[in-house]
Amino acid sequence: MTYFASWLTSPQYVKGCEGKIEMHVSPEDIIALIEASLEANYSDVRTASNKIAKSISNYDLESAKKIKSVLRKRGVPLQSSGYIESLPVDTKSRMPLLEEAQWPVSPLFLNSEAKNVFQTFLADIINIDKLISHGLSGRLNLLLSGPPGTGKTLVAGHIAAQLNRPLYIVRLDSVISSLLGDTAKNLRQIFDFAPKKNAILFIDEVDAVAKLRDDRHELGELKRVVNTLIQGLDSLDDHAVVIAATNHSGLLDPAIWRRFPYKINFDIPDFGMRESLWNHFLFLDNGEDHITKLLAKLSDNLSGADIESISIATRRKCVLTQTDINLVSVINAVIGSTLGNTATPTNDELSTAEKKNITCLLHRTHGITQVDLSKILNTSRQTISSYLKE
Ligand SMILES: Nc1ncnc2c1ncn2[C@@H]1O[C@H](COP(=O)(O)OP(=O)(O)OP(=O)(O)O)[C@@H](O)[C@H]1O
Ligand SMILES: [Mg+2]
Repeated sequence: MTYFASWLTSPQYVKGCEGKIEMHVSPEDIIALIEASLEANYSDVRTASNKIAKSISNYDLESAKKIKSVLRKRGVPLQSSGYIESLPVDTKSRMPLLEEAQWPVSPLFLNSEAKNVFQTFLADIINIDKLISHGLSGRLNLLLSGPPGTGKTLVAGHIAAQLNRPLYIVRLDSVISSLLGDTAKNLRQIFDFAPKKNAILFIDEVDAVAKLRDDRHELGELKRVVNTLIQGLDSLDDHAVVIAATNHSGLLDPAIWRRFPYKINFDIPDFGMRESLWNHFLFLDNGEDHITKLLAKLSDNLSGADIESISIATRRKCVLTQTDINLVSVINAVIGSTLGNTATPTNDELSTAEKKNITCLLHRTHGITQVDLSKILNTSRQTISSYLKE
């Protein structure tokens, strides 16, 4: 970074511009960054770096963007510096009760309803002080529910990234101890710890607490755990942000449910989202419209994670065999996949039986013309016609 040395003297100037422009990176910001780094204080490193990025953005947008991008990519716990030691742990197992998650680098595709809640939630967090001053404070708690692989964890990551705040994922497997008394103690530790770090708290599989009900535990004891969770949520101040996710929203205790005023119900992605997912994951945002539409049509039973998984497997094959994407092989894998259980594309020439099967399905069920089929299967129209006759 060419400007770094010059920041240390004041006033600073940007070279390469006509005349001299004063820069507003103060030595205090640099000192704050160094101190935060040496203390392995992850959120302060981020705050100081963001401040620096902001102050140079008027003069050197490229470097400001680079700083932001480094911050996004390096959103990993400072384990090597011993930072992880400071996370709360279960007294018996010494397992950390929280882990800091990396900010996502891949884009998020949402339908319009989900996008609306996502944007409203973000705007309310950003403007919370204004809302409080008008007596409109409320819990900044978001509940994400829906099938596996539909983007719940991704949403939590994007919210943290947009807010420039660390994301702590609660490890419910460590939190739920064989002794319910310890479970309650662990929950209390988490709710004491997260606000101090200005972190977004992400409680994944929040229904796990409710599932204890089916277990061997006494109902009274279980109630205490649920109450501790509720007390924890209630103890947070108006600026705290909690996101919870569940695959089984029906199992959630209604008292917990009520504490999450913002809700996004995920479902299998709709047609438009599937198109975007194929375009992004398989064709790196450069796909042909009629092909992404075809794949979107065929994958109406798959989740975003399934589409990503088939796409990545295909691209791996292409790299290793130095070939282009074999569309028929992808179609064959899509047809052979079910939700959460994807088939691996082979990239090999398909057997005649497989080709016949695909031809009939695409023509009869999806109305693909014989001309298009001959292009997709890279075979003559006569062959396609004979497949259909047979
Ligand atoms: N709506 C989406 N937009 C973009 N990518 C998605 C979407 N849904 C799923 N994916 C892809 O699938 C991956 C898995 O999604 P994610 O972990 O967020 O699912 P989840 O709903 O949290 O699943 P689980 O219930 O199993 O935890 C993501 O990292 C992303 O690559
Ligand atoms: Mg998840």
